[in-house]
Amino acid sequence: MTILGIESSCDETAAAVVRDGNLLLGNVVASSMELHAPYGGVVPEIAARSHIEAIIPTISTALEQAKTNWADIDGIAVTYGAGLSGSLLVGVLTARTLAIIYNKPLYAINHVEGHVYANFLTKTSLPGYDLPAEQPEFPMLALIVSGGHTQLVYFTDHFTYRVLGQTLDDAVGEAFDKVAKMLGLAYPGGPSIQVAAAKGKAKFPLPTAKLSAKYNFSFSGLKTAVLRLAQQQIGEDYGFPSSKLAERLSEAQKADISASFLTTAIDTLVGKTLLAYLEYKPKSVVIAGGVASSQPLRQQLSKRLPIAIAYTDVKLCTDNGAMIATLGWYKHAKNQTPADPFSLSPKPNLVM
Ligand code: KG4
Ligand code: ZN
Repeated sequence: MTILGIESSCDETAAAVVRDGNLLLGNVVASSMELHAPYGGVVPEIAARSHIEAIIPTISTALEQAKTNWADIDGIAVTYGAGLSGSLLVGVLTARTLAIIYNKPLYAINHVEGHVYANFLTKTSLPGYDLPAEQPEFPMLALIVSGGHTQLVYFTDHFTYRVLGQTLDDAVGEAFDKVAKMLGLAYPGGPSIQVAAAKGKAKFPLPTAKLSAKYNFSFSGLKTAVLRLAQQQIGEDYGFPSSKLAERLSEAQKADISASFLTTAIDTLVGKTLLAYLEYKPKSVVIAGGVASSQPLRQQLSKRLPIAIAYTDVKLCTDNGAMIATLGWYKHAKNQTPADPFSLSPKPNLVM
């Protein structure tokens, strides 16, 4: 069985073809990221317009890469939330139209749940992918860390899960992006903070949020603490505008602030994942979402958790169609009810 996956929730237009729930045959990601970089974040109107231009060529290229045609496709999976409404609309309307024209079942995919399924891919016909040898086993603990979400989810089976905790304010990826903007580092913030941090020392202690629910997260206090630290480093008070910090900070100061922020953010993520591991004793632990491509996060998790973690290729951590096609494959194989191709509408605020 072969599923086409379509993803357009944010600034990546993506399509992929997945067979047998673990074999990646085609994976194409067209990003409008460089168009948003000057603004330090995604501009919804620019993203939606870029999806319109890119979506058909992206799907065609994914099918070509997979050496498949429509006759080989058993179903179409599409992200219908969460995300930017204009962006989601392009993917959903395209998938609905294709499902009607080619008479294929359509599966509505939750983007965040989709991220987890990147970890189920173990084989590919494509060059340049480093995939885990085995699929994760249930029960499975998932740390989902992206630009829009930060949550710990305990899965006992496909589609059967409990959200143990989540962020009460900023997502961790959002905190990376905002801190990078403050320090004048390139968007997206995650990779540029990783690079800057490698040149510095985590010499500044930063606070971690103390929350009553032990698996919840909060990153807005950390972001404010970084702002205060940066102001203090240049000898200014808290009224100094964050937009003027970058020009006053030295490269060495930026590197040390980045390293301090990175260390604190990762420590929080790893600490809570370890706590959940010890309480729930899952058979596997996976990480998912854009921040899961962080090498320091992977290193710390592997060091502190008493279980071997198989990490997927970093290309499958940031937004892609492969994760959507994989979850769609399981929905199709396990007889989940397909969506109505005449009425499926985007759900920008969809939660797990
Ligand atoms: O999953 P994703 O592509 O989009 C959302 O669903 O949000 O995640 C994007 C986020 C951005 O905030 C970006 O800064 C972060 O993932 N990110 C990273 C790294 N690569 C991307 N964060 C930390 N370290 C990285 N290497
Ligand atoms: Zn995502």
